[in-house]
Amino acid sequence: MNVLWILGLGTLLVNYTAIAAKNDKYSGYSVHGIELRHRSDQKVLYDLRIDLNIDLWEHGAPGTHDAYIMLSPEDRVKVLDVLDTNDIKHYLHLTDVSKALEEHQNDLSHWQQTRKTLMPFQTYPTYTEVDAYMEHIAEQYPDLVTLVNAGNSFEGRAIKYLKISTSNFANQSKPIYFMDATMHAREWVTTPVTLYTIHRLVEDLRDEDRDLLEDVDWIILPIVNPDGYEFTRTDDRLWRGTRSYNPDVSTTCYGVDANRNFDVNFNTLGVSTNPCALNYPGHAPFSEPETRYVRDILLENIDRIQIYMNIHSWGNYVLYGYGNATLPSNKVHVHYVAAAMGAHIDAVKIPQASYYTIGNSNLILYGSSGSAQDYGQAVGVPFSYTLELPGYRYGFLVPPKYIEQINTETWCGIAVTARLSNTYYSARNQSKYWSYSKLCPTIKRKMSAISIVLFVGIAINSVIAANSDIYSGYSVHGVQLRHRSDQKVIFEVQADLNVDLWEHGAPGSRDAFIMLSPKNRVEVLNILDANDMKHYLHVADVAKTLREHEGDLSRWQQRRQNLEPFQTYARYGEIVAYMERIARQYPDIAKLVNIGKSFEGRDIKYLKISTSDFNNSSKPIYFMDATMHAREWVTPPVALYAIHRLVEDLREGDRDLLENVDWIILPVVNPDGYEFSHTDDRLWRGTRSVNETTNQITNTNCIGVDPNRNFDVNFNTLGVSSDPCSQIYPGHEPFSEVETRYVRDILLENIDRIQIYMDIHSWGNYVLYGLDNATLPSNVVDQHLVAAAMGAHIDTAKLPVADFYLVGNSNLMLYGTSGAGSDYAVVSGVPMSYTLELPGYRYSFEVPPQYIEQINTETWRGIAASARLSTIYYSGRVRS
Ligand SMILES: *[C@@H]1O[C@H](CO)[C@@H](O)[C@H](O)[C@H]1NC(C)=O
Ligand SMILES: *[C@@H]1O[C@H](CO)[C@@H](O)[C@H](O)[C@H]1NC(C)=O
Ligand SMILES: *[C@@H]1O[C@H](CO)[C@@H](O)[C@H](O)[C@H]1NC(C)=O
Ligand SMILES: *[C@@H]1O[C@H](CO)[C@@H](O)[C@H](O)[C@H]1NC(C)=O
Ligand SMILES: *[C@@H]1O[C@H](CO)[C@@H](O)[C@H](O)[C@H]1NC(C)=O
Ligand SMILES: *[C@@H]1O[C@H](CO)[C@@H](O)[C@H](O)[C@H]1NC(C)=O
Repeated sequence: MNVLWILGLGTLLVNYTAIAAKNDKYSGYSVHGIELRHRSDQKVLYDLRIDLNIDLWEHGAPGTHDAYIMLSPEDRVKVLDVLDTNDIKHYLHLTDVSKALEEHQNDLSHWQQTRKTLMPFQTYPTYTEVDAYMEHIAEQYPDLVTLVNAGNSFEGRAIKYLKISTSNFANQSKPIYFMDATMHAREWVTTPVTLYTIHRLVEDLRDEDRDLLEDVDWIILPIVNPDGYEFTRTDDRLWRGTRSYNPDVSTTCYGVDANRNFDVNFNTLGVSTNPCALNYPGHAPFSEPETRYVRDILLENIDRIQIYMNIHSWGNYVLYGYGNATLPSNKVHVHYVAAAMGAHIDAVKIPQASYYTIGNSNLILYGSSGSAQDYGQAVGVPFSYTLELPGYRYGFLVPPKYIEQINTETWCGIAVTARLSNTYYSARNQSKYWSYSKLCPTIKRKMSAISIVLFVGIAINSVIAANSDIYSGYSVHGVQLRHRSDQKVIFEVQADLNVDLWEHGAPGSRDAFIMLSPKNRVEVLNILDANDMKHYLHVADVAKTLREHEGDLSRWQQRRQNLEPFQTYARYGEIVAYMERIARQYPDIAKLVNIGKSFEGRDIKYLKISTSDFNNSSKPIYFMDATMHAREWVTPPVALYAIHRLVEDLREGDRDLLENVDWIILPVVNPDGYEFSHTDDRLWRGTRSVNETTNQITNTNCIGVDPNRNFDVNFNTLGVSSDPCSQIYPGHEPFSEVETRYVRDILLENIDRIQIYMDIHSWGNYVLYGLDNATLPSNVVDQHLVAAAMGAHIDTAKLPVADFYLVGNSNLMLYGTSGAGSDYAVVSGVPMSYTLELPGYRYSFEVPPQYIEQINTETWRGIAASARLSTIYYSGRVRS
């Protein structure tokens, strides 16, 4: 059967001779890389594109991805002048495009000649070969596959797609996953990905993927634009548009940009009115038969298409709408699914590939209108994406030896999104979960009745007994979240019943975890049941796991001599002794600062690390702190390990981190709480301050406040409890706690130079940015890119059991809060401020000490990546 796919030598020779002549068009053309510092640099490129019809190969992202433009000999001087005038750095990437095209063609011929049997997804197949493959699949697997001919292209080629289903598309409870490719003719790597998907679903279905075939229906359209695609083979490898001819519009120029031709904000943004331009949208929406077929597939199946994946190349992006920068109403979920896709692909990427960047297409790249992605979203597909596959350094001319890598890594991303689509689709079917407003009032009523009854109980719970016995009879429960409204239920339980929320969770991808006491268990589980929320027992007896954890730690310490405090869960005294030794041994680079005493009188100390005594104002400051919440024991080792790597164990590849960045590292913000979690209550979270007046007024005996709600930013407005015994009590006023005042002082004293503030917490694998009230900071794109780089770098070194890092706004990803340290840094002027949530694996706060080294080293990668980016952004900040 593979005989079908042996490529005829005859065709090959014909192709080959035709090439030399066709590539002449690009003789003298060059491609230039451009270093973007800022969004305004992108604007310069965008204007050039519109004014001179410059072929923008890649938009780029400031600080992380360079842009690439192709220039003709006529345009070159003019364009490079404009770049120079704007002080934008550029470099020659490809000297001679025609030569690169020839090499690419030779490479492909060689690839095909040296391999006897190539499946069409293992090479760049012709339109005819793709067609034959689809016919063959439909014939061989009639129970599973239906071949549909949508109609003819402008030049009369049949545009065909496959419907793949175990139930003949008749089962309405399954979502449809619709993917298409080669809308832009020159993006050759895209079609193999669709063919490989067909192959994996039909010819090579593996046991672990059975659910993808059984629970999802698929529509796969491998070539949207066959005329353009064939034209790239015969005449012009870099052709992008369709091949329609409309003499009323232009007698010399052919085609339109199919991905600007859809009926959504048509002809408003990122388009040119010049019919010869690469981004000419056509004289009317859907002027092209090819885009009409995509529209028809979308509309015909709109009730069930859960994901539309419009596949392009290149740049490693998962993008969503709208192209005008308005976000769809379900943006949080759209972002999650895209982030899961990017992370799964990143985990198996090759080293030379960039990480996937996830976000709104306008915010991440540039404005557009009339795109397929936007049209899908606008007509009602809940998750509509543009996927930009890798180009490595080759752009559109990816050598065929990379096809297999791109196919298999992208398949990982497709598989995870298909699984998530299934979760979301079942929620969409049950509209009561879909409608936020319907659900909430009932909860509210139920909650207020209960909270009165339980207020007394809470006070009793919070009186401290000694050691882990206080948690005897406590249990931890996983809760499956279907929707954001489910998170709201959890949140209300936390606030009203003083439930200890161990992990917020993310609908569809992460379960929430709550700790329940024997006193509140029944009520809380009843509320979950009443809201139809699935839950399960995660830890039956918290006291028992705490005892195990304690035993584990003492065995770890007994068996190892000379453990450094970053290799274990050290006591506060050992941590301070370590910092003192570092400062003594390395006086030229490390200075110990004693900022003052904690509530209970412990000295709070931090290290300043600098090769230039903090005197060189061209260097950014990276300020990192940990252990604001007492029980988050994995966080001080990470801060101490950073000290170790910068001072005692600086490696050749990290020299820049010490030389170009100044560091402030405060390993324990809250030593009173931390020591209390060692001696009395392992799960203590807050400070240990006592306010007699408050206790008298409320007739309680409560201790401490949540320091991460105690900062002076939107104080006491969101995600807090007025119950002074609650774990999320923010204090009676901002900065009531001496510990948060010290963090404030460090921030304010260094505000001109702190580029990144990293407040380290655990757990959940998140890099979160503000603001916590869901207002996004003006530099949200840059903040997101740095956070995404951090998450991706950590993910590459993570353990298989760990979750991927999720990156995003804290409120949109988790839940609203107020008074957090990271938000305070933002409003005080720190450009990039994050809450980092380290892994908890399945152990939550009680991560066994065996994992400390893993968490230290993987997190160090993320710290290093973000510190390097901070120098780029800081130099931009100093210039402006
Ligand atoms: C329809 O699909 C769902 C989800 O895969 C499955 O649970 C159900 O049994 C199917 N219904 C029929 C009638 O096959
Ligand atoms: C952006 O486009 C979407 C979809 O057409 C539309 O709903 C929204 O109002 C537009 N936003 C602006 C600011 O024009
Ligand atoms: C930094 O500045 C301080 C105070 O001005 C000075 O004492 C110190 O020598 C300077 N250090 C370096 C390395 O220039
Ligand atoms: C200050 O730091 C920058 C960045 O590391 C470096 O290029 C410059 O030479 C330093 N200046 C002095 C006076 O050391
Ligand atoms: C204790 O709290 C009360 C408000 O309940 C406040 O007025 C008072 O200043 C606080 N006392 C101290 C010492 O912080
Ligand atoms: C969110 O908080 C910031 C900082 O205090 C504030 O500027 C912004 O207006 C707030 N947004 C809303 C919607 O309240």
